[in-house]
Amino acid sequence: MNIMNTNMPKNDNGVAKGKKILLSGVKPSGRPHIGNYFGAMKQFVDNQATHDCYVFVADFHAMNLVQNAQELKQGTMDIVLDYLAIGLDPKNVCLFKQSDVPQVTELCWIFNTITTMPYLMRAHAYKDAEAKNKEINVGTFDYPVLMAADILIQDADVVPVGKDQKQHVEYARDIAEKFNRVFGDVFKLPKDYILESVETVPGIDGQKMSKSYNNTIPLFAEDDEIKKLCMSIVTDSSGELPINVYAIHTLFRDEEYLRKLYEENKGKYKILKEALAADITAFITPIREKRKELAKDIDSVLAILKAGGKKANARAEEKMKVVREKVGVSFY
Ligand code: TRP
Repeated sequence: MNIMNTNMPKNDNGVAKGKKILLSGVKPSGRPHIGNYFGAMKQFVDNQATHDCYVFVADFHAMNLVQNAQELKQGTMDIVLDYLAIGLDPKNVCLFKQSDVPQVTELCWIFNTITTMPYLMRAHAYKDAEAKNKEINVGTFDYPVLMAADILIQDADVVPVGKDQKQHVEYARDIAEKFNRVFGDVFKLPKDYILESVETVPGIDGQKMSKSYNNTIPLFAEDDEIKKLCMSIVTDSSGELPINVYAIHTLFRDEEYLRKLYEENKGKYKILKEALAADITAFITPIREKRKELAKDIDSVLAILKAGGKKANARAEEKMKVVREKVGVSFY
């Protein structure tokens, strides 16, 4: 039970007073790996008691890439299962999907009218896409504006994101400032909270752990898969410390424990890899089993998602009443 949430006085939106609002969106992108977990996902679990948390599946954003209903649905459910399995507690965290708050698209439109094309053309994500010579869709071009709407409609204080999303949070601040200047003070200015640790999680080949390098250890891997992956971690035969094994190991054990273990087994790569596999297995087994349990009861999972959507929608609607008033589309 979250003592803070139940005992704290609430304001009209049901938000516990005094807690900062933390919000972040997640796009479906296949199986998460331990780099994703330690770099990003875990932060939501760690912050859920101290912040008012809003975590959502950015399904509208995902549509820029996923244009298949079945795939989008599956991707959305997977994220919800992943997050519940790692310990997001729906009592503490409002877990929802973006499309249950369609007001963000309305706000996105309003923001579009005060945002210029040259400004959006300076976005890294757009420039990268253009450099690849893609025929960029309008949704991709407008991505930062929809994201600003996600953030600002919930009055978010803190937005934990990976480094690649830093500019998008700056865009949200800029757009909030512009709106406030043009129509009057409505939006809080959000701050990013950059998750650095993901940068330092190496994959089994020593490069940064990333799906695109095919060097990951999946977060919900089965025991034999973990073992196999650990045994295949690339080691440098010139040194005595298998750097890549050690670096991954630091995610699971403290330094003192590891120093002793690696000291005692100098040069014995197989033993060290087995020790790492055992530690990863001990960590993964309970969350993997929890995920399986959750997946057996999809109705309960959907009920959580629906309740989250209802709450997020109600807050968004309150905010939009003010916005509609300010811009002049509200009559009755
Ligand atoms: N763009 C983010 C990503 O790719 C996902 C996202 C969408 C998001 N809306 C958001 C993140 C609002 C934080 C806040 O990871």
